[in-house]
Amino acid sequence: MALLAQLTDTHIVAKRSTGDTASYLADALRALDGLETRPDAIVVTGDLVDRPDPDAYARFAEIMASASAPWFAIPGNHDDRRLMQRRLPAESIGTIVDGRATVDALAAGIRVIALDVTRDPHPGGALEPSALARLAALLDEAPGTPTVIAMHQPPYAALRVLDLLRFPGAPDFSELVARSPQVGRVICGHVHCITHAAIGGALAMTAPSTAPQRVPEIFEPGLRIRRERAGFATHAYDPARGGWSSVVYRRDDDGRYELV
Ligand SMILES: [Fe+2]
Ligand SMILES: [Fe+2]
Repeated sequence: MALLAQLTDTHIVAKRSTGDTASYLADALRALDGLETRPDAIVVTGDLVDRPDPDAYARFAEIMASASAPWFAIPGNHDDRRLMQRRLPAESIGTIVDGRATVDALAAGIRVIALDVTRDPHPGGALEPSALARLAALLDEAPGTPTVIAMHQPPYAALRVLDLLRFPGAPDFSELVARSPQVGRVICGHVHCITHAAIGGALAMTAPSTAPQRVPEIFEPGLRIRRERAGFATHAYDPARGGWSSVVYRRDDDGRYELV
């Protein structure tokens, strides 16, 4: 079995403060170490820091140094990919093509393709034709390898209030996934809560932030806010058990993580 852990929206800040997001990231890493099956790799799906500050990335890197599996990170709309390149280990942030970072890694037989879909300064995501062509070429290289595609912004209307932002390239991305049956999961962050959708035959989902957050209510009219507990997700591939499975863990107020 291969197990990929997904941490997202860690929003690390440069200086220590009350309710520090850094302590929650450290908690999440400890919780991963306590799982019955340890992850083979960890992917951090963006918004690594709250504001793009070199010291915030240094703190992020310092905490992630305690991870007991190889880790990879892609930028979210709160990140600065140039600062990420300067402050984070090269092996964790992939390569830059046309100004965008791409991670392409193998972990215990599954492939993780993590894409930078940010469109600075717009908070939404996009996959322009050149990015889709690069992704198609990557997928063509290994059509038989079970694959996870990771990105910060979900390429579907995860929250009603975010419908307005849209995601240019999402329909073409969906067609590409439909033509690539090795893609079992599309994993995202950005909305700080759990959402699911079907994209081209794969399960697409968002995971909660590693820190507790207040987020827009999904189904209520207007912009109501609710509290979301901290958490993370894991994505397993086990051919003996029929393929992919994903679960989300949530942190309670006492710091224990439980399966939801
Ligand atoms: Fe975020
Ligand atoms: Fe975000």
